[in-house]
Amino acid sequence: MSHPTHLPKAELHLHIEGTLEPELAFALASRNAVVLTHADTEALRKAYLFADLQSFLDLYYELMSVLRTEEDFEELADAYLARAAAQGVRHAEIFFDPQAHMVRGVSMETIVMGLSRALDRSEARHGVSTRLIMSFLRDLSAESAMETLEAAKPYLDRIVAVGLDSAEVGNPPEKFREVYESAAALGLRLVAHAGEEGPPEYVWNALDVLRVERVDHGLRAFEDPKLVERLVRDRIPLTLCPLSNVRLRTVDTLERHPLREMLAAGLMCTVNSDDPSYFGGYAGDNFHAVQGALDLGHEELRELARNSFEAAFLDDDEERRAR
Ligand code: ADE
Ligand code: ZN
Repeated sequence: MSHPTHLPKAELHLHIEGTLEPELAFALASRNAVVLTHADTEALRKAYLFADLQSFLDLYYELMSVLRTEEDFEELADAYLARAAAQGVRHAEIFFDPQAHMVRGVSMETIVMGLSRALDRSEARHGVSTRLIMSFLRDLSAESAMETLEAAKPYLDRIVAVGLDSAEVGNPPEKFREVYESAAALGLRLVAHAGEEGPPEYVWNALDVLRVERVDHGLRAFEDPKLVERLVRDRIPLTLCPLSNVRLRTVDTLERHPLREMLAAGLMCTVNSDDPSYFGGYAGDNFHAVQGALDLGHEELRELARNSFEAAFLDDDEERRAR
């Protein structure tokens, strides 16, 4: 088998703002006259030591303030797609956080059309098919999420699903029941971050209240045997992000990541990069890292790759072409 970095795979948990590399951040800051608090790329990289999810989010939101124009979003997405393609990614389902830009006066149109410029030519240029997932910031209000869904209505042909991200603890899934019902009624598919830092109860409620078909992270679901039974029975995909979990200290070390045991328990796990610029690696790097740290065999790596295509929002023909 080829090196796991290059194994054909789909990436299902990737925040486009989390692919902003320090060099591009400074280039865009200069172009848009945005002043960053760090002096240069070296000082910025040194700040990539996180105590938890919130300490990462503080830097993540600050740095993305350099994104202003359609060209900025296009360049960001194109750079990610080139890197992803070089690591075996054949299909990418890409989160974006519109509220984090709209508070700065950037319109939904600028964000979606800018990203679409890169996504629309991605198959031809990079050999990567794509989907967009609009994510609501769970530390903002449910009303704000509903307004965001409203603002996205002219662009629904470009958005496959809605998601839920940002600070998890204290912002449970049920806060967003109504907006998820509205999104489903518009024909959007449903995913949500749950069980990254939050308890298994948040995963239960993502399933039972929000009715998601895929759980982003879902790591802490493994603490609850009844929940594991449910996830296995219904074959609910979990989009795990091992390097992210280490950097945000939800696991102590990669060697102690439960991925291998989760696969053995019958869970439909996938491996993804989350915010690769911040967490030390793209999709293939995550595959490579878990192979080494957990001594995964070829069959487990192949299962992870197979799961990623099966869990993707692709129809059967598209799935066959992407594999
Ligand atoms: N936004 C970007 N990355 C995130 C993560 N790992 N968890 C929650 N929200 C995020
Ligand atoms: Zn995430």
